[in-house]
Amino acid sequence: MPNAPKKPLVIVTRKLPEIVETRMRELFNARLNLDDAPMSQAALVEAAKVAEVLVPTVTDRIDRAVLSQAGPQLKLIANFGTGVDNIDLDTARNRGITVTNTPGVLTEDTADMTMALILAVPRRLVEGATLLKDPRSNWTGWSPTWMLGHRIFGKRLGIIGMGRIGQAVARRAVAFGLQVHYHNRRRLPEAVEQELDATYWDSLDQMLARMDIISVNCPHTPATYHLLSARRLKLLKPTAYIVNTARGEVIDENELARLVEAGAIAGAGLDVFENEPAINPKLLASPRVVALPHMGSATIEGRVDMGEKVIINIKTFLDGHSPPDRVYPAMF
Ligand code: 8YV
Repeated sequence: MPNAPKKPLVIVTRKLPEIVETRMRELFNARLNLDDAPMSQAALVEAAKVAEVLVPTVTDRIDRAVLSQAGPQLKLIANFGTGVDNIDLDTARNRGITVTNTPGVLTEDTADMTMALILAVPRRLVEGATLLKDPRSNWTGWSPTWMLGHRIFGKRLGIIGMGRIGQAVARRAVAFGLQVHYHNRRRLPEAVEQELDATYWDSLDQMLARMDIISVNCPHTPATYHLLSARRLKLLKPTAYIVNTARGEVIDENELARLVEAGAIAGAGLDVFENEPAINPKLLASPRVVALPHMGSATIEGRVDMGEKVIINIKTFLDGHSPPDRVYPAMF
């Protein structure tokens, strides 16, 4: 009997849901990371030297240094995640390495988390819940003037980045009675604007100055790094809230922390941070900030769907076809 064809070496940098890992083992010579320890840059280089396919995540920096030491057998980076700011796309392209991501399947989960923060921060949800669990709180009962937050119904929500996730946030926001405004590289087709009852702002500066809540839903690219710069953050009303479930790098985190501490911004709901896992301590100390550990897409359904997409991208690529979620540098 002829020998079975050799399975391609696929190196996965983090632990994935079991069902995904089982399927990867069946299809590929899968080198998994069962204890989930994040890989060092040196370990990523070693992986890139031998893998035919690399499956990184947001915690892996696949930069020029890693890619320039990759072996000629590395032909595909199948990112487990939608954002690809962890990968140097230009260098990958120059070296003939295809990159894919996992768009679409985490849209609804991330939009849910965005909405949860839009509700949680003005309504002081975490403050209230934390207080009750603290045995020292000594809650004596309801009071007409205690724990007052701010109404979100009727307020203006400004969405920065009206792609899949931004639009899913808009749909939820409409149901909560928010007025939807947005800034985007491109204006949406009129029919979509009408469906979402959304007002387009060509000028981000002008939109920022008029909103009650800002939601960041754009990818992190060289063009969006510190899009909410110190100058722009100062345009916000002192009663405004900021929610970010996209990437921390889009906001100047130190300036945001300073403004929240000074009471120049009403509060923030943050699922992502500029230098994860480090977080500006002023943000963590503020009762007006709800901080989450990058949980936007953290549902078992979402992570299994992401794994499924990764497998389909690898399989299609290895079969000689263009993978469905191929990423080109010009897309970002
Ligand atoms: C993922 C995300 O969990 O997909 C993304 O871009 O931000 C997250 O929701 C993470 O990136 C996985 O790599």
